[in-house]
Amino acid sequence: MSEAGPRRRDVDALTMEEAGAELEALAGEIARHDALYHGRDTPEIGDADYDALRRRHDAIEARFPDLVRADSPAREVGAKPASGFSQVRHSVPMLSLGNAFDDGDVGGFIERVRRFLGLADDDEVAVVAEPKIDGLAVSIRYENGRYVRAATRGDGQVGEDITANVATLDEVPETLAGDDVPEVIDVRGEIYLRRDDFLALNETRRAAGEALFANPRNAAAGSLRQLDVSIAASRPLRIFLYAWGEASSLPSESHHGALEAFGRWGLPVNPEIRLCAGLEELLERYRAIGEMRAGLPYDIDGVVYKIDRLDWQDRLGFVSRAPRWAIAHKFPAEKARTVLRDIRVQVGRTGSLTPVAMLEPVTVGGVVVQNATLHNEEEIARKDVRVGDTVVVQRAGDVIPQILGVVPGKRPANAEPYVFPEACPACGSRAVREMNPKTGRPDVARRCTGGLVCPAQAMERLRHFVGRLAFDIEGLGDKQIAFFWERDLIRGPVDIFDLEEKVGPSLAELEGWGEVSARNLYAAIDGRRVIPLDRFVNALGIRHVGETTARLLARHFGGFESFRDTLAGAEVGRGEAWDSLVNVDGVGAAVAEALVGFFAEAHNREVVEGLAERLTIEAVAEAGGDSPVSGKTVVFTGSLEAMTRQEAKARAEALGAKVAGSVSARTDIVVAGPGAGSKLKKAAELGIAVMTEEEWLARIGAKAAGA
Ligand code: IVH
Repeated sequence: MSEAGPRRRDVDALTMEEAGAELEALAGEIARHDALYHGRDTPEIGDADYDALRRRHDAIEARFPDLVRADSPAREVGAKPASGFSQVRHSVPMLSLGNAFDDGDVGGFIERVRRFLGLADDDEVAVVAEPKIDGLAVSIRYENGRYVRAATRGDGQVGEDITANVATLDEVPETLAGDDVPEVIDVRGEIYLRRDDFLALNETRRAAGEALFANPRNAAAGSLRQLDVSIAASRPLRIFLYAWGEASSLPSESHHGALEAFGRWGLPVNPEIRLCAGLEELLERYRAIGEMRAGLPYDIDGVVYKIDRLDWQDRLGFVSRAPRWAIAHKFPAEKARTVLRDIRVQVGRTGSLTPVAMLEPVTVGGVVVQNATLHNEEEIARKDVRVGDTVVVQRAGDVIPQILGVVPGKRPANAEPYVFPEACPACGSRAVREMNPKTGRPDVARRCTGGLVCPAQAMERLRHFVGRLAFDIEGLGDKQIAFFWERDLIRGPVDIFDLEEKVGPSLAELEGWGEVSARNLYAAIDGRRVIPLDRFVNALGIRHVGETTARLLARHFGGFESFRDTLAGAEVGRGEAWDSLVNVDGVGAAVAEALVGFFAEAHNREVVEGLAERLTIEAVAEAGGDSPVSGKTVVFTGSLEAMTRQEAKARAEALGAKVAGSVSARTDIVVAGPGAGSKLKKAAELGIAVMTEEEWLARIGAKAAGA
């Protein structure tokens, strides 16, 4: 065993090619040791050597994110560190944040808040500005003031239990001090490493011949991902708390007041947090924090703004995964120059062709970038990007790197304008820009017309199907999909669920597979034979139907049968099924048409039926579960007085009601304010319950705003 020894070169010194080759070798090696460890055979190496392999692997991946392999051990089922933690469901989801990139976006945020709450022009909106710490989000539960559990964010709903690791942080108190500590509170914040501690840690590792961490965030994450608690304990991890989830009571009616209480209880709160009186002060604070950024002892990547009044936060609620009452104002993206080697065209699951720039590898903001999106052919033409050009690349946070433009004067004499292919690079079918009937112009995206014969589209659909927001099947990544595709074993979603029956234990004999990985894959597939309807709908990959729309549809239809039966009988533009579809709030005609179009194809219906035979598709619990209006369809008409229409709608939806735009036989309640006209009449005709806004508020147990 030589792998983990000091002879290895610094990750920082590796070229892209060396890194790629080493990752491949490490993936194989780690898989072999995993198999020895989990199987009946005796492990060949001890835990420390194994951990060193993993760390080396993770450090290379962190520095070269473009090289992360489909069979990366970080994704494998049964890999030691990542899978050893048990799961924790967050009783209140851990949200992420929307982004603002310039002053205009911040103004827009404040404006939206004002409009949503229906504030008068002279109403002051107090907002807290906080440094956005570049670390790892964590939720820590205290019961009766005592530390009981800590969990990672995970997918926002379910995280990993890292109670033991977080308990090693000196800054996390075992008990909270004070007489206003709630009986139960999940405090939330960011675990991070200071830059000097990170440098010292890497220095020690360099001296010991160990792999270096790419940045403080990675080092913090790597430390918390270890099952061996002594590793986290040996790292000087720190924390700032800035939010909370479930809380039996709160010490204040304002966000800044709550954070002050956190401080009194003994929880670390960032000292640069300020309460600002409005947009001007926020932007001033943003610039001030930007100026102190380089001098701060820890990494930050922006400023988070939060509406201070908690009653307003409650009313604002959230959309999808982010609160309406907070936003992250990011610092400008990092840029670098490099040479464009080639332009490759990728085929998406709906057949759209996307040009991708293949770049001379360049480090931008700490990671090596070698691909960047060029969006579409118009974009290439507009920027006149040519192979051989020196281009400016930008990378911000986790977003895909972009090409900002060409550096003038650096173009080689022989560089030719780029000609976009008119045939699909995967199947050779014609690729066309369809006419968009609404704009009267051709679509920006060129699409492959190959449909079902195009292997690239089919594989992309499969990738989407098994992806994180859909079936989330671990161990079935891009590489494995291509593997099964080539052997004609998986050509569509249904094949995934027949794989074990078809291939059985002989999978272990196929190249690149072993007993353990085969068993793990079958187990991962089996684990997804029961699936919630929203994930199922999202997995189908219907155009315009993403995670959010899938959830709306799942809630609307309740169960799979109702979803399928309605759509199977639907026609575009007429009939009850169509009306009920376009009546789902958030589902416009484009989505409805895509859904009906999808079900009109016999092949798609076969896939849906095939899956239904093999799976248990679970109804999705209504939001607001047991609320008095859960599952009811409500129509608001006339003017509302206690809140804006948008807020009324958001609140009804949060309680599990469906808000529709027009009155039909499916409407349960019409809330009519002054000035209500034809909808009120229709409700009377159909014998639907009509209530005033006040009665509605009483029904949902809410007070009018300001009351
Ligand atoms: S508030 C509901 N405040 O940024 C609001 N997040 O991009 C939840 N983060 O997932 C987040 N500093 O991990 C908040 N002062 C701060 C933060 C912060 C860093 C992270 C957090 C979040 C991510 C969103």
